[in-house]
Amino acid sequence: MITEILQINENNLNKAVDLLTCGELVAFPTETVYGLGAIGTNSQAVKKIFEAKGRPTDNPLIAHVHKDFDFSLLVNVTNDYALKLKNAFMPGPLTMVFKSKGVVCSEAVCGGSTLAIRVPSHEGTQKLLKKINAPVVAPSANVSKHVSPVTAQHVFNDLNGKIPLILDGGKSQGGIESTVLDVTGEVPRILRAGLITKEMIESVVGVCEIAEHKETDAVRSPGVKYSHYMPRCLTLRFTESQKEQAKGVYKQAVEKGQKPIILCENKFIEFFKEENYLDLGKTAEDVASNLFYDLRVGEDTADLIIVIEPSGRGGVYEGVLNRLCKATKKAQE
Ligand code: TXA
Ligand code: MG
Repeated sequence: MITEILQINENNLNKAVDLLTCGELVAFPTETVYGLGAIGTNSQAVKKIFEAKGRPTDNPLIAHVHKDFDFSLLVNVTNDYALKLKNAFMPGPLTMVFKSKGVVCSEAVCGGSTLAIRVPSHEGTQKLLKKINAPVVAPSANVSKHVSPVTAQHVFNDLNGKIPLILDGGKSQGGIESTVLDVTGEVPRILRAGLITKEMIESVVGVCEIAEHKETDAVRSPGVKYSHYMPRCLTLRFTESQKEQAKGVYKQAVEKGQKPIILCENKFIEFFKEENYLDLGKTAEDVASNLFYDLRVGEDTADLIIVIEPSGRGGVYEGVLNRLCKATKKAQE
């Protein structure tokens, strides 16, 4: 199959709608990462997503809808706090998990009784969803376990020959996936940290829990149990206090004829100025925006990636660290 990359315009959006309506897959941009979509009521099309990605069939998909879509067509919205959060953060990088009405096919939710819904804010994708006026289920558009894609080229690198169309809407600015929030209980619970933080949710509804993922737990957000975001080359994580050691490992690699690269926050670039480095930026939002992009630059241009872990905690750092810890191996003390 030929995989086309097309800019978002009226013609190409219509082409995407035609493909989706015929049961094909289309990759599209969002403000977090690129998604790989199929119409959520078409089980044959949904199966193609799992095949194209090599995704475990017990990891459910998020339904993407336009901003005026009536959620009650798909789910039971039983909690007032969920409506408040919807008004506050949608469209945007928040996904909420509700009790499903079963309209979206069981393949998409892996036989479960809940459905995750998200309203992406990307303008071009809003237009696509408006034209379709149906739930488009979509995971991140990477091969399973690989780093999530934040450009059309990243999607192409992973899925060339497996899907007919990638809509190109530029680099995803958010850079890490949406916050996944369970809103079926008394209080909201974060299942996956992201750009909508615990603090932001609390500021609207007063309280927000964070789900702890222990080995013994019945897993609430199945995705969290899988290894994820792994670059194609060895990727080591050092803390700030290990930065001398990181430099040593870098130098050893160079001596062995390897091509290492360092990913670090802006405040460390003075320290690593003699080395080959990528600047992750100054704020937690910068690091989120650059992390997957730079991990992909790293795997394309180097054979060892060394990441200096941000020391900041709370807020967006929680989502950043969650991704970083899954993408990297902790360096030995
Ligand atoms: O930003 C995002 O969320 C991106 C863009 C494309 O929208 N999508 C994304 O999808 O990251 P994916 O499939 O890579 O991750 C979805 C996460 C997984 O951890 C999955 O287990 C969880 O959401 N999830 C999906 N449906 C769920 C449900 N009904 N209950 C609990 N967790 C669910
Ligand atoms: Mg993913």
